[in-house]
Amino acid sequence: MNTIYLEEVNSTNLYAKSNIEKLQDRTLVQAARQTSGRGRLQRSWVDLGGDNLFLTFVLKPAKTFSEIYSNLTQYLSVVLCKTLEEYSLQPQIKWPNDVLLDGKKVAGILSETVMQGNVFKGLVLGIGVNLNADENALKQIDRPVTAVNLQMGETIDSEEFKGMLVNKFFENYDHFLNVGFSDIKEYYINYACFLNKEISVQILNEKKSGMAKAITDNGELVLESNKKDLVLTIGDIL
Ligand code: BTN
Repeated sequence: MNTIYLEEVNSTNLYAKSNIEKLQDRTLVQAARQTSGRGRLQRSWVDLGGDNLFLTFVLKPAKTFSEIYSNLTQYLSVVLCKTLEEYSLQPQIKWPNDVLLDGKKVAGILSETVMQGNVFKGLVLGIGVNLNADENALKQIDRPVTAVNLQMGETIDSEEFKGMLVNKFFENYDHFLNVGFSDIKEYYINYACFLNKEISVQILNEKKSGMAKAITDNGELVLESNKKDLVLTIGDIL
């Protein structure tokens, strides 16, 4: 596997997008420091200093886009949970792809589709994992966040962690591309912390509240709101 290792970059996703023509399928772009990390819903991803993981998978599975690719973020969230379990931790997933430890976010995943006109060039699937941070650095983030070292009480070897994550990712990747979300649905549901709970979801400029009833075979969230089932494809559980 080809890895491009950068000491510092604005964003590994941006780097991968700018260089998409040159980068082969299954290239990894990793940075020691990220100065302008990008998050979901136009948010930023803060570099907490220390030895954390900023990694982007460059994926070129086919010449045309398939709906299955939208579920790769959920696939990666399951892969990350399995990796964290190797550390005897008990991760959970908050729909669609936030991974939590002790109820606090420990990692974020952002997938971006790269198009040139109508031509599909590939996907950049980025993941940031707080592996080593100190409590004070976490205070700059206005949401509950944590880091693996704080949960474990010891420093985490980022290369070892990355190795496990990447191996687990590619172990089942080809199969996932053939089968889609239903391939991981059972695992996903077992890690889900939001099902059968009253929740609020921010969907672009709208907020919907209700009972998180189910996850569909396509990874969508079924929210029962005012006695109607809403099937959500995007959103952010508040
Ligand atoms: C989120 O908002 O939860 C997603 C955060 C994704 C952060 C990662 S860090 C590596 C890659 N490069 C980026 O700029 N973003 C992703």
